[in-house]
Order: sequence, then C-alpha cells, then structure tokens
Amino acid sequence: METENGLAVIGQVPALSLVETHGSPLYVYDGAIIERQITTLRQAFPGLPVGIKYACKALSSLGILRFMQQRGIGLEVVSPQELELGLLAGFAPESITFTPSGVAFSEIEFAVEKGALVNLDNLDVLHRFGQRYGGLQPCFIRFKPNIADGGHEKIMTAHESSKFGIDIRQKDEVLAAVQQYGLKVVGLHQHTGSDIKAAASLLEAAARLFEVATAFPDLQFIDLGGGFKVAYSNHDTTTDMAAFGRDMTAFFQEFCHRYGRRLQLWFEPGKFLVSECGYLLARVNAVKQNPDRSFLTLDTGFNHLVRPMMYGAYHHIVNASRPEAPADTLYDVVGYICETDTFATQRLLPRTQPGDVLAFLNAGAYGYTMASQYNSRLRPPEVLVYEGKARLIRRRDTLADLTAGQLWNE
Ligand code: LLP
Repeated sequence: METENGLAVIGQVPALSLVETHGSPLYVYDGAIIERQITTLRQAFPGLPVGIKYACKALSSLGILRFMQQRGIGLEVVSPQELELGLLAGFAPESITFTPSGVAFSEIEFAVEKGALVNLDNLDVLHRFGQRYGGLQPCFIRFKPNIADGGHEKIMTAHESSKFGIDIRQKDEVLAAVQQYGLKVVGLHQHTGSDIKAAASLLEAAARLFEVATAFPDLQFIDLGGGFKVAYSNHDTTTDMAAFGRDMTAFFQEFCHRYGRRLQLWFEPGKFLVSECGYLLARVNAVKQNPDRSFLTLDTGFNHLVRPMMYGAYHHIVNASRPEAPADTLYDVVGYICETDTFATQRLLPRTQPGDVLAFLNAGAYGYTMASQYNSRLRPPEVLVYEGKARLIRRRDTLADLTAGQLWNE
C-alpha cells in the first residue's frame, strides 16, 4: 500500500478519508491498478490476436464490469445472472462466453438465446446441444487436460479427479458427437486452476489442448482460461507475464502454423485483473490481551472476506492509521463472526489501538463476490477510485436488504 506525506493512500486518495466518508468496513478498488494489469496482459503477446475475457466471478460489481467493458475487455460468465449483469454493464452478447459447470440445460439455452458463446464441458450436454441445435449454433468445448496446479486443492480444476471439463482422454467420443450432429466447434477451452504456481503448467496444458485441436477443423479460438498468479505477500511469486507471453507466443504461432490457420488466443483472468486493485478497510474494535497472545478484533469477518478461512489464504495487512510505524508487535487478527474467524495468526504489525483502520490487501478478487450476510450482518459498500476521485459504486447493505424477499408476516 502506498503512502503519501505519511498517509496511506489508494489511488492518491487517503484511505482514512474514504472510511470517514463511507464508513467501515469498506471495499475500495483502484482503477489505475486494473488498467496497469490490462496493459501488462495486452503487451505480453506481441503480434498475437489475444482476447481477454474477464472472469467476473472474481468481482462482478456493475461499476467494475463497466470499467472493464469501457476498456475493450470481454467477459467470461458462469451463471445466467452473471450474463445478465454483463449485458446490463454494456457488454455485447458476442463478447461474452458462458462457461458453466454442471448446470441445467435450460441455462445453456438461455445463454444461446441471449447471444453469448457457450462452452460445453460434458459429453451428455454435448449430445443434448447437438440434438437441440445441430450445427446451427457455434460452441466451445472445455477439455480437462489432467494437470494439477493451483494455489490450493480447492481451486485446482484440471487434475484427473476434477469435475470440470471433458477428460481429454475422451477426445474420440467428443469427435463422434461432433460428427453425429455436425456441431460447429469454434473454440477449445481449458482452465487449469486459480493461482497457478508454475507457468510451465499452463504451457503443458496448452500443449495437450493443441494436440487434440488439429482434429477440429472449424476452430477460431483457443481459450486457455485464467489462473495467472499474483503475489499475496512479499515472498510470493507471480506469473512473469513477459516471460510467459514470449514462450506462449512462440508456442502458439508454431501451433497455428501446424493447424494451418491463424487462430485467436483467449485468456480468462480474474485474479490477475482485480486482485491487487482491491482493499478491504476495517476498523479495530478492540485489542484483547490474553496471557500468551493479543487479538485485534475487527468490525468485519469472514462474512466479508472468506479467503483466509476458506483456503487458508494469506492476505497482507497494513495498519492504515500508522502506515509508517515499525511492525514490532504480534497479533492474531480476528473477525466478529460467532465462530472461529481468523484473518491472520501471529502477524507482525505496528502497535495498534482500538479505532485504527486496517487494510487487507489483494481483496479485489473473490472478496466482495464471496461475501455473505452471515450472522445477519450487512455487506460493506464499494468505492472505485480513479484519477484521484472516489466514486461509490455500491452502498452499504441496510436492514431492508436483509429482509428483502422474505415472506413471513402472514
Ligand atoms: N476461467 C474459469 C473457467 C474459471 O473457473 C475461473 C475461476 C477463472 C477463469 C478465473 O481464475 P483466476 O484468474 O481468477 O484465477 N474463490 C477462489 C478462486 C476460485 C476460482 C474459480 N474459477 C479464491 O478466492 O482463490
């Protein structure tokens, strides 16, 4: 987190002033960081026709979707509702890919009606799609390349025991279905996982996809999914986008040559585009001293940021009230939810007082979208900072949001 004149700032706006205006807890996104990530991606594949389909499950607030759309990014969605949000935000239907897993066929029909590209990840569904549309409706096929990579077992999606995609060993059955119905397969897709540790895994996944791709004559796109790694701590690694881009560009060009036609290369980044732009700001309610440890209890919990509890994820924490004080005290940083709710154990922070504002870094991806109303708490507002201005893009929940839709008083 940057400091200016001794103050913690987000896109040049002091973090504490944002909390004063909008209250705590608060999600804040820095538009300049999203733009930086878009530029890094676009520059990584010189000379290749690359499509970026933002995986909006990472952060699907309309203000963010609009920000992406205005910068020429496409969209990857996994539910009819994400699709509707994308359309609301102004995405052209043909710039949206629907990549569902295990959904009712009616959702696939819905996506077709809306004009999105659909990505099929099940042999049975392929048959149903063939019976329903024959070759009239272009489609993607998602293969599972049987590669294990990702930041946590829960977010790996391409290993042998994963539910996702059609196992690449079933290629012949896929081809038989394609022939039987005259399916127009315009794209092949794979998604290895999230937080992929080794770029080599992505290259290997691509190699496996390229191997089967030559059997599909109508291809226009190869979609390698998302999963690029961003750093959650100073010691963490990131996908070296320039190096990966160079390797991938050469590899893809060689594949296109073999295939006999120039195809488009697509990616579906979520974390890479929005993880680092986001901060969850929360106030310290109390410092609780035990004989052997000190707790900082906050006015937030895993209802607002579930990643530490769900994946044991590390999120760096900055005391935004004392950004330049030395980190010399160990704290367990915990939430207010009435069950174990730990953000960080024995974390070095500056000596902290009740009322201080802590900032959780890397809270842009899978922060707000995984937030809930557990313990009947209200979800925080969201603010987008861009060019020195802070704009509220979602207000704080109210009691009316908690009761909305409930039918009880009869
Ligand atoms: N494409 C597909 C088909 C996906 O399923 C996903 C993520 C992505 C792209 C984007 O992956 P990313 O670039 O964001 O790594 N809640 C977890 C992550 C779940 C990822 C689900 N699929 C977390 O907080 O780590």
